[in-house]
Order: sequence, then C-alpha cells, then structure tokens
Amino acid sequence: MSGNKTLHKASKAKNDDFYTQISDIERETKHYKQHFKNKIIFCNCDDPEYSNFWRHFHIAFCVFGLKKLVSTHFVYKDLFKAGDTYKMEYVGKDSISDGNFMTGIKTPLKENGDFRSNECIDILKEADVVVTNPPFSLFREYVAQLIEYKKKFLIIGSKNAVSYKEIFKLIKDNKIWLGHGFANGNAYFKVANPRDYASGVYDEKSGLVKFRNISWFTNLDHKGRHEEILLWRKYEAEKYPKYDNYDAIEVGKVADIPMDYDGIMGVPITFLDQYNPEQFEILGCAASAGYNKDIVGIEKISSFKDARPLIKGKNTYVRIFIRRKDKFEK
Ligand SMILES: C[S@@+](CC[C@H](N)C(=O)[O-])C[C@H]1O[C@@H](n2cnc3c(N)ncnc32)[C@H](O)[C@@H]1O
Repeated sequence: MSGNKTLHKASKAKNDDFYTQISDIERETKHYKQHFKNKIIFCNCDDPEYSNFWRHFHIAFCVFGLKKLVSTHFVYKDLFKAGDTYKMEYVGKDSISDGNFMTGIKTPLKENGDFRSNECIDILKEADVVVTNPPFSLFREYVAQLIEYKKKFLIIGSKNAVSYKEIFKLIKDNKIWLGHGFANGNAYFKVANPRDYASGVYDEKSGLVKFRNISWFTNLDHKGRHEEILLWRKYEAEKYPKYDNYDAIEVGKVADIPMDYDGIMGVPITFLDQYNPEQFEILGCAASAGYNKDIVGIEKISSFKDARPLIKGKNTYVRIFIRRKDKFEK
C-alpha cells in the first residue's frame, strides 16, 4: 500500500496521525549515540514505507553501530485485512546505506500491529531501545508498557502529558525526563488532513503543521540534563509572592529562579527542559486537575478548597514545585 494511501486510510479513523520530520529525529538522536551501539532499536508505530524513524535508523545504521532495526505498524481494527501489517527487520550492511529504505526482512503480522498486541509485545521484549512518535491519545498506556517491560526509550509526546499523574510521578522520581527538544520549541509534522488545522498553524508551502507544545520523553541519559541552570537573580520577598494556598514562592519564568533561595518554589513546566537533577529536586505539581496529595507533593493550606496555585485568588496555571538540592551561598 502506498504511503499516502495508508496515511489517508488511517486518518479516516483517528486524529493521532502526524508524521515526524527526519531533521527533527536527527537533531535528537545525535545526543544518544552511546546508547544505541550494538542495540536492537524498535519503532513500533512506524510503517517503513513512510516513517522517518525507520528511514533515519536505516541510513544511520552503521554510524550508530546498531545490531538490528525493527519496525511494526498499525492498521485500525475496522480497516484491517490480513496482510496489511508486517514486521520489518534490518540488520545492516557492511557499508553505508544503499538508499533503498525497503531493504530488510518483511514478515506479515497476524494481528493489526497494535503496540499492545501479543506479537508486538514479543518483539518489544527482544528490543533494547524503542524510538518513535506514538499516538498521543494512548500516551499514558504507551509509556506504562515501556516501563512494565523495563525498556529504554526515546519518544515524542505532548508537553501536557507532564501533568498526567502517571507521567508526572515518573518525572518526579527521575525515571523519565525530557530530551533536548525541537528547534525553538516548535515541532512541524506532516498531517493527513491539513484542512483540519487553522491557517497560521498549517503552512501551505511546506505542507506541515506547527505544534508548540511537543517534547521528547526519554529514560536515556544525556549531557543536557547535567548542565547547571545559571541563576543570577537575588531573592527579594516583594518580587516573589507566596501562593495563597501553598507555602512556596511563585517564580513565573525559569530565568527568574533566585540563586539564593532554599525554600520551595513553583515554576512553569518549561523548567523541565533545563532540569538538572543534581541541582534541583522536584517535589510535586499543582495543576487544575484537583488536589492529589501524591502529585502535588507539598501540603496545601487546608483552609483553601482550590488546589490550583493561587496568588491573591488568581490561578497561575500548572506549577511544578522544586527546591535547590546543591549547596549554594545565601
Ligand atoms: C503521531 S503518529 C506518528 C507516526 C510515526 N511514528 C512518525 O513519527 O512519523 C502515531 C502513529 O501511531 C499509530 N497508532 C495509533 N494507534 C496505535 C496502536 N494502538 N499501536 C500502534 N500504532 C498505533 C498511528 O497509525 C500513527 O501512525
């Protein structure tokens, strides 16, 4: 089936279908070269006919020194016919890629290529690192499966997922973190139905749709997360108001984190792009989703019903509560 035909078919069923550019994949994977050597890479939401994940690792197979590249793809159950899905495996060649991205061993799948199907789980068990852009609507389940099978991964997801309680807990416990990210924080994807997007979001010239709130999520270590966030602001009580309902100060921008404050601070989600676990500890997260003691992580002043971080009664959006961990001069 041609790429466009598959794209169209899939798009009829769900809105999870947007396709990652190879330049964005290259920009990220180069930070993890040491984690890929001699490893089996599994792209489990990727049709080799048009996935740039498959294409990228096929081209860079020797550069990364991979052991094997495996890809499976999905067809919605109501559209699925036997023979529509297959597993594709590539074990490389001695030399650089010959440019034929369909080189590999093709084995039909019995089921529809769902990452949760038994045959895809069997492939997952054998794999070392999963790299893909999975369906955003199944992100929680997708990550839970990777954690259950103790897999290393590098995947794309919406930054909003940070405040899902299951995902936040993994971030707080330093079991997963954000990767390097997209150029200027903007991800551009190819979509099946550009007409569904407003002009300004869809660029007719490139045929791409712009998403602002997208990140890489990973449990592969990278240099960036050990770089110190440089702090130069001095704490002044009047510039950093306390929340009405939490014993913590509001820091509206990461650049404004004071260098000399050892109490609890509320920072925006963008903090996670620069988070260094040697410099800060994450205590919790307060979102609009209500009070969940485990997630909020710090005591709420009990006379307040509202769990959102409030300043003079006004909501300040999602805040992550952090505290300095390293030694510093006050
Ligand atoms: C965001 S798109 C990304 C596609 C491709 N990985 C890329 O980055 O270009 C997510 C893909 O997951 C597929 N998908 C949806 N549900 C799935 C499932 N249960 N199991 C496996 N793949 C699924 C969709 O068909 C879609 O192609």
